[in-house]
Amino acid sequence: MLSSKRILLIIGGGIAAYKALDLIRRLRERGAMVTPVLTRAGAEFVTPLSVSALAGRKVFSDLFNLTDEAEMGHIELSRSADLIVVAPATADLIAKMAQGHASDLASTLLLATDTPVLIAPAMNVRMWHHAATQRNLALLHGDGIAFVGPNDGDMACGEHGPGRMAEVPEIMAAVRTMLSEGPLTGRRILVTSGPTHEPIDPVRYIANRSSGAQGAAIARAFATLGAEVVFVTGPATVPPPDGVQVIRVETAHEMLEAVKSALPVEVAICAAAVADWHVTSASSQKLKKTKGGLPQLTFAENPDILATVASMTSGRPKLVVGFAAETDDVIANATAKRARKGCDWIIANDVRPATGIMGGTENAVTLITADGAEEWPRMGKDQVAAQLAARVATALS
Ligand code: C5P
Repeated sequence: MLSSKRILLIIGGGIAAYKALDLIRRLRERGAMVTPVLTRAGAEFVTPLSVSALAGRKVFSDLFNLTDEAEMGHIELSRSADLIVVAPATADLIAKMAQGHASDLASTLLLATDTPVLIAPAMNVRMWHHAATQRNLALLHGDGIAFVGPNDGDMACGEHGPGRMAEVPEIMAAVRTMLSEGPLTGRRILVTSGPTHEPIDPVRYIANRSSGAQGAAIARAFATLGAEVVFVTGPATVPPPDGVQVIRVETAHEMLEAVKSALPVEVAICAAAVADWHVTSASSQKLKKTKGGLPQLTFAENPDILATVASMTSGRPKLVVGFAAETDDVIANATAKRARKGCDWIIANDVRPATGIMGGTENAVTLITADGAEEWPRMGKDQVAAQLAARVATALS
């Protein structure tokens, strides 16, 4: 499976572009997310509409499209992929790549990326044999670009020889080889994230300041290691990562139901900032301001999702990880919390406002396991996530 793999597919201008449509279908059937980029010449052979309909997402084609740039800059577009596939890679695109041109969106993306690139050349046989093309190909080989094809055979132009684009199954095999399995391939992992909103009435609710940034980073890090990630998120301000199954919820009760529906999983990471209480007196109509009267809210405790999962008697995940956001006696409180909740690991952090961690981009955590406390240096939330995913991969191996 290619689930959670993000592929940027650049479609160049050649008759073989029609095969790119089938390639999109096959990649998506295997679970990959395909972001298509259609060159101006490519659009002479296949329409943006058919490409985007098959990819299920918009087609990018213009370097200077400000809407695209506002939504996702070209640098991010090239970096947010696990693999870039160029099919068909025309003689012109190959020349641009070899010379480092950035004269249109496709060549700019290819120049701006540090993601592995696979190209499926397709051109007339004489163009293929031309010394200029052969020089360019040698440069690309030297740059570490991977190739699939071209094949020998009859060509649309009536000639015969090398230059036919590889067939879709061959390209799929090359893609699978390049996206070789990560250490968590085949492992199903649950991540809860974000705050919960507990309604008071249809327009008011109780919430907290969690942005969901750490949870989203964790889900992304696990997906990067090949895991199949179920991401149960409350109304976070940070968007969920690509390549994970997203289940959106509002309340703690909904989160618990979503978590139950996601089971069984091998690992559960509970990073959500679940509200401790819900309002039992929540009204189905907007509460009115009445002269001299204040609303009386009554509360009840929310289910503890982490403790519920950790105490499962059958089908308990092998590893249950919780978070402890503390403002004092971080290690002592988190160690006690680990025992109280029955989870295997606790990731403790100091969320005093002065640390800037809540809602910030960095985190300073201590990992608490049965073996004791291990302090990690302050680092970006992405790095904390990557380190955690690597630790989990080691623990499962
Ligand atoms: O008890 P406290 O909220 O400090 O515990 C934090 C940990 O427990 C986090 O991992 C959080 O996701 C989890 N939790 C939960 N359900 C709750 C409350 C907390 O899963 N109702």
